[in-house]
Amino acid sequence: MKRIIVDCDPGHDDAVALVVAAHFGDLVGVTTVGGNAPLLDVTNNALLTCQIFGLDVEVHSGAERPLVAPPRNAPEVHGVTGFKGPALPDLERSVASTEAVNYLIETIRGEEGLWLAPTGPLTNIAMAFRQAPDLVNRVAGVSFMGGSASVGNHSAVAEFNILVDPEAASIVLGSGAPLYMAGLDLTHQFLVDDSLVSDLRAISGPGALVLADLAASYLDQVELRGGERNGGLHDPCAILAITHPNVIEHTERHVDVELDGSLTRGMTVVDQRRGSQGADPNVFHGHTIDHHQARALVLEAVAARSHSGS
Ligand code: RIB
Ligand code: CA
Repeated sequence: MKRIIVDCDPGHDDAVALVVAAHFGDLVGVTTVGGNAPLLDVTNNALLTCQIFGLDVEVHSGAERPLVAPPRNAPEVHGVTGFKGPALPDLERSVASTEAVNYLIETIRGEEGLWLAPTGPLTNIAMAFRQAPDLVNRVAGVSFMGGSASVGNHSAVAEFNILVDPEAASIVLGSGAPLYMAGLDLTHQFLVDDSLVSDLRAISGPGALVLADLAASYLDQVELRGGERNGGLHDPCAILAITHPNVIEHTERHVDVELDGSLTRGMTVVDQRRGSQGADPNVFHGHTIDHHQARALVLEAVAARSHSGS
């Protein structure tokens, strides 16, 4: 079993990612970062997800704000608290610490070969790598949901996780760690839609119901903003790249992030030129996902743990 630390900002898709990581991997720990909602909210959401799905794992909260940029949330997507939609149980859990970066450094120095799976802004990961550069040679890899080789979502060209903290993304992309990228060009192949909501509702247990209500609320928000009732089920893709490498095809590419462009700040520039024309690769760029298999795996993980919590 691959041993995984998930760094997240729940959001519904982060919650699904946690369940998938716990079912198909060995979820070692969870760290949180401000993103979809402020740090306190996403941390509560991570604790609730672990409680509802019975995940026996520590949660450590981390960066409240990006390295340089002002804080930025996405209430229009996930609601003000990040978990709009379901009736939620009273929170019975609390954080193990508020020092996610120290937790990452100590845990990775204590065990070689861990996977890092960031599914929010990369602030915690960048701070850990900057404080302890030796980590990049100790992790098995960093499988992150972020960026895009095509369209953006929170700007014409930038994806939310990277746009929130481009400086952190630049540090991670230049770190030398083995990097696996699940960008929007990949995650838009794996849709959350009313059909998936129905399949989640067909799974008995409180956990599946919470995820179904979260996803339905996400689709309502998309529709309210004039979109069709679907969207990428982004964050689980970063987990499946670790636990089921056959589900996602990767190609080595050079990826960098724009920091200065007035129109393009936060854009990940994926060099897809063929052969020697391209710059030296630093990322395994995920470009194709078997979305039928991915969907089945997500439903399997949710069904397995939907009754496990309180
Ligand atoms: O752009 C999608 C990403 O931003 C996902 O990780 C979602 O949870 C939000 O954090
Ligand atoms: Ca996320």
